[in-house]
Amino acid sequence: MKITLPPESPMLSKDFTFGVATASFQIEGAADTRLPCIWDTFCAQAGNIRDGSDGKQACEHVKLWQEDVELIESLSVDAYRFSISWPRVIKQDGSLNQDGVDFYIHLLDRLNAKGIKPYVTLYHWDLPQHIEDEGGWLNRKTAFLFQDYVEKIVIALGDRVYSYATFNEPFCSAFLGYEIGIHAPGKTKVAFGRQAAHHILLAHGLGMQVLQQLSPNTENGIVLNFTPCYPHTQTPKDITAARKADEYMNQWYIKPLFDKCYPEIINDLAQADRPIVEPGDFDIIAQKIDFLGINFYTRAVYEANPDTLYAQIDMLNAPKTDIGWEIYPQAFTDLLVSLHNSYNLPPIFITENGAAMADKIIDGKVMDTDRIDYYQSHLNAVNNAITQGVNVKGYFAWSLMDNFEWAEGYLKRFGIVYVDYQTQQRTIKASGLAYRDLIGSR
Ligand code: NOJ
Repeated sequence: MKITLPPESPMLSKDFTFGVATASFQIEGAADTRLPCIWDTFCAQAGNIRDGSDGKQACEHVKLWQEDVELIESLSVDAYRFSISWPRVIKQDGSLNQDGVDFYIHLLDRLNAKGIKPYVTLYHWDLPQHIEDEGGWLNRKTAFLFQDYVEKIVIALGDRVYSYATFNEPFCSAFLGYEIGIHAPGKTKVAFGRQAAHHILLAHGLGMQVLQQLSPNTENGIVLNFTPCYPHTQTPKDITAARKADEYMNQWYIKPLFDKCYPEIINDLAQADRPIVEPGDFDIIAQKIDFLGINFYTRAVYEANPDTLYAQIDMLNAPKTDIGWEIYPQAFTDLLVSLHNSYNLPPIFITENGAAMADKIIDGKVMDTDRIDYYQSHLNAVNNAITQGVNVKGYFAWSLMDNFEWAEGYLKRFGIVYVDYQTQQRTIKASGLAYRDLIGSR
């Protein structure tokens, strides 16, 4: 089975970047060679992770990184997106942990030697626990600690990096982590979620200032996730419900970056739930970015609800992936076109897109035709957006390999490479081969 694009698609031109993505906590393991982070603590509390697992071993990437770089190379990709573990590179006193830094230097050198562009994310959710102990993202000081970390790591990595993203998915850290508590650190208050989001956005702005100064030749930006919100019916009240959900879940994290304010739904919040914003914050947040990273997986459907403004509907008969997310590629095109029309955007990179499927390895093969279908329909959706004038410059499959899927533990597999967690053997799935062939066909 193949993945194809129309021969005239700009996605097949050489200046379009194809890559694969991972994140530190999800693949690295070797937890004993870094400081504890909020996900170590969260995993240790019973009931938080569906299979009771943690990130201590994960894909043992710290040990197997050389093999993993060969694997990446064998997929013919132009780029590899990964994240740096803050607790691996900065000691508790704020100084550099050279052993941790060396791990990334070796990785970067190897990638560069093979001509694979390193796309580095500076924060993919693994906040050092000692910073959480001081309030984490509820403490404004954390934004300045992040800025200091960025300064140190950027100097240490020198000219080895192609692109930096400050944050991956602030929505997840803030909303899932501090508002509804299904991610680390497991806090549950509206006011917490909104304040954490504000401090993360502030940290993004402060980090961008450092990147502009110390790393002006890399492509610097941020990665946001979007779950487009659709009304259940075309009644005005459902349309309003979907718009409010969109402002709360999606626009909250992008509007400050371009329009220097939060969306209107802030007026529906009780005064005590609104974030504390200091004068000048929005000017820091709205730094010019070289690219916007967009992660897309699914959509959500809402109806009006008298108590909660909006309520999500489960699309019972719709096709879904193994993690229960509706497969609805049209939302990807709609999203890209609507962002393009709403904001003055820099070039866009699809920094994550992919699917969890119930993979079976049989006779050493994983025939994940369902995942191939997902990639095919979603690459078509990106191509359609480009046809409508959206400037998309790259696409990263999530993920290079199966890994620790946060609250789902190891039960959900997003890789285009299968990982046997007993033996740590990697096997390229049929989707990985199809992705490789698409990239190779250019
Ligand atoms: C978003 C996150 O960035 C990544 O860490 C996660 O594994 C995937 N989506 C799938 O949920």
